[in-house]
This record gives sequence, structure tokens and C-alpha cells, in this order.
Amino acid sequence: MESLNEPAYRAALKALAPLAEENILEIGFGMGETTAEIAQQHPECDYLGVEVHTPGVGSLLARVEKLGLANVRIVQHDAVEVLQHMVAPGALDGVHVFFPDPWPKKRHQKRRLLSSDSVAQLARVLATGGELRFATDSGDYACEALRTILTNGAFAWRACIRAKAQKTCVKTRASTTMRRSKRR
Ligand SMILES: C[S@@+](CC[C@H](N)C(=O)[O-])C[C@H]1O[C@@H](n2cnc3c(N)ncnc32)[C@H](O)[C@@H]1O
Repeated sequence: MESLNEPAYRAALKALAPLAEENILEIGFGMGETTAEIAQQHPECDYLGVEVHTPGVGSLLARVEKLGLANVRIVQHDAVEVLQHMVAPGALDGVHVFFPDPWPKKRHQKRRLLSSDSVAQLARVLATGGELRFATDSGDYACEALRTILTNGAFAWRACIRAKAQKTCVKTRASTTMRRSKRR
């Protein structure tokens, strides 16, 4: 992993899309349906999808080719390590975490993607004003995520955005939007 720590590598990540209005990272895109749909709707933004599952990576690659998308990049690697080693502080305008594995059994819940450590990493890589969009259909996970994110102190849950997100959540699958605030 040492080479991933190289400043040049970090700079290269940002330099992939220098003209993009926003650089968005998506964690765990699954088969990539939502990624491709959002990327098609927003050609002005650049999307870096991180996924470990090979069939999912293949599926998104096929969608990118079929739709002729020029604003999607893929890293097939553990998102926790990507966040820790490959993304410079404040490099991202947004992070999407849509329907992460819910791990409903109590004894498995420590495997959940959203933890105080990963939220600290998200706070590090998001620029001030950047958005973290988190969606889940597990009520228990939603409560835990909200508690963990708010406990971090770097994020504010914006009621106006929340209302908007609730209205559009079917389209964007974003049910919770947190904005990276100035105060830590
Ligand atoms: C339940 S699926 C959700 C997929 C998609 N976001 C959706 O809404 O349909 C969770 C995805 O996260 C991926 N995943 C889980 N842990 C991951 C990690 N540490 N790094 C990257 N991807 C991960 C899984 O491979 C899986 O495809």
C-alpha cells in the first residue's frame, strides 16, 4: 500500500478530472445502476466509484460503455483503504453511500461500513460544504449512522436539504444528506 501514499498518486487522483465541477466518490456501487444514472444526469461532475465485487465492476463498465459516459472512474478495492490512502484531504465535493450492506444481526454489526473511523475519514476527504449522502432501508442502521455522523462533529444535517432529499429520494436514492460544516 505504500505507493498509494505517494503525494503524486493523490495529486493524480484529483487531476483525473480537473475540469469537473464536482468530484464525487461513491462507496459500494453494487451493479452500478444508480452510479450510471446519476453520472448520465450530471455530465459536469466526475464520479469515482469504489467497489470490491468483480461482477459489479463489470456491470458498471458495461453501462459506462453503453451510455458513452466519460465521467465515471472505477477503483476495485476496499473503500476503507481507498479513503485512508488514496484521497487527499478536502479533495471531494461529495460522497455517496447508498444502501450499504446492513448486517442486521447484532454480532455482525461491527462489519458495517459506517463507523466512527470511516466517518472521520469522510470528514477528512470532504471539502468544507461537501455533501455526504447516505441511504439505507434499515431503520436501525439509519439511526446508528445518523448518531455516528453527528457525533463526529464535522457534519451538519441540513433540514432543507433533508426535506428535498426526502421528496426526491426515489430518484436519487439519497435519503440523508449531511453537509461538511466549517467547524470541527
Ligand atoms: C447492498 S450493496 C448496495 C449496492 C448499491 N449501492 C445499491 O444501492 O444498490 C453493498 C455494496 O457495497 C460493496 N462493499 C461492501 N463493503 C465494501 C468496501 N469495504 N469497499 C468497497 N465496496 C464495498 C459490496 O460489494 C456491495 O456491492
